[in-house]
Amino acid sequence: MAMEGYWRFLALLGSALLVGFLSVIFTLVWVLHYREGLGWDGSALEFNWHPVLVVTGFVFIQGIGTGTSWGVSKFLMNIHAGYNAIAAILQLIALVAVFENTTCLNNIPMYSLHSWVGLIHVIWYCFTLLSGFFIFLLPWARLSLRAFLMPIHVYSGLVIFGTVIATALMGVTEKLIFSLRNPAYSTFPPEGVFVNTLGLLILVFGALIFWIVTRPQWKRPKEPNSTILQPDGGTEQGARGSMPAYSGNNMDKSDSELNNEVAARKRNLALDEAGQRSTM
Ligand code: HEM
Repeated sequence: MAMEGYWRFLALLGSALLVGFLSVIFTLVWVLHYREGLGWDGSALEFNWHPVLVVTGFVFIQGIGTGTSWGVSKFLMNIHAGYNAIAAILQLIALVAVFENTTCLNNIPMYSLHSWVGLIHVIWYCFTLLSGFFIFLLPWARLSLRAFLMPIHVYSGLVIFGTVIATALMGVTEKLIFSLRNPAYSTFPPEGVFVNTLGLLILVFGALIFWIVTRPQWKRPKEPNSTILQPDGGTEQGARGSMPAYSGNNMDKSDSELNNEVAARKRNLALDEAGQRSTM
């Protein structure tokens, strides 16, 4: 089934990919050109993996994963799940890099708002990823449970992504304030201006992804030949056969009976949506 504004969807997704990719490049240039580079020895070089991996994993890959969750096909739904799995692995390494560098080796406690929000984000992200895997990817969860949890899953995804953008902007600012002493951040040094531009790119990326995922017409459409499960285990076809045709002999069917059937059908459609969107 053709999606409304398909080319606009592709153009926006392409722009988001471009801006997200630029953010990753800017982060790499920042640590390789302005900072000392990358390494894994407990020094500042190890810390530098933190921005590189979180911008690549949390912001870019997870953002595209969120954007494609709204997209057109089951294929994109698979990409959604795959992207989030890759993002999770990168994030884990990014956190090890910063934990070793601050809490473990230098005894710096998690005092900042950035680290608090970052930790809450990580815990919530893992929970959403695991529940998505067990409830929506594996086949054993009941349709009613999926239907109940789907809006929460979608809402969590949006809040998590918004939190990532906010956490990244806080982290970038914090790092600039810590590192830029002479010349100070307040005097517009080239590194400050460059990294502020990185922050703006991250913001624009977030705004594009939010626009994509909040367009109702870009929700994944139902499959044309879908089978709707009935509460008694029957199918939509079966139910349709038992539905009255509102004409001829059936004109005497009472309104309340019809309303009940319409309501039941609507409930089943909602269940179907939850089931389908979960069939990754
Ligand atoms: C976007 C996702 C991000 C998340 C979820 C995140 C998460 C965290 C966490 C949990 C900590 C605490 C680790 C500890 O103290 O042991 C931390 C520390 C830190 N992060 Fe991030 N971070 C993110 C992005 C960034 C970015 C882009 C930067 C830019 C360089 C950054 C800079 C820092 C700095 C300087 C610290 C050490 C100081 C502190 O604890 O606040 N973070 N981050």
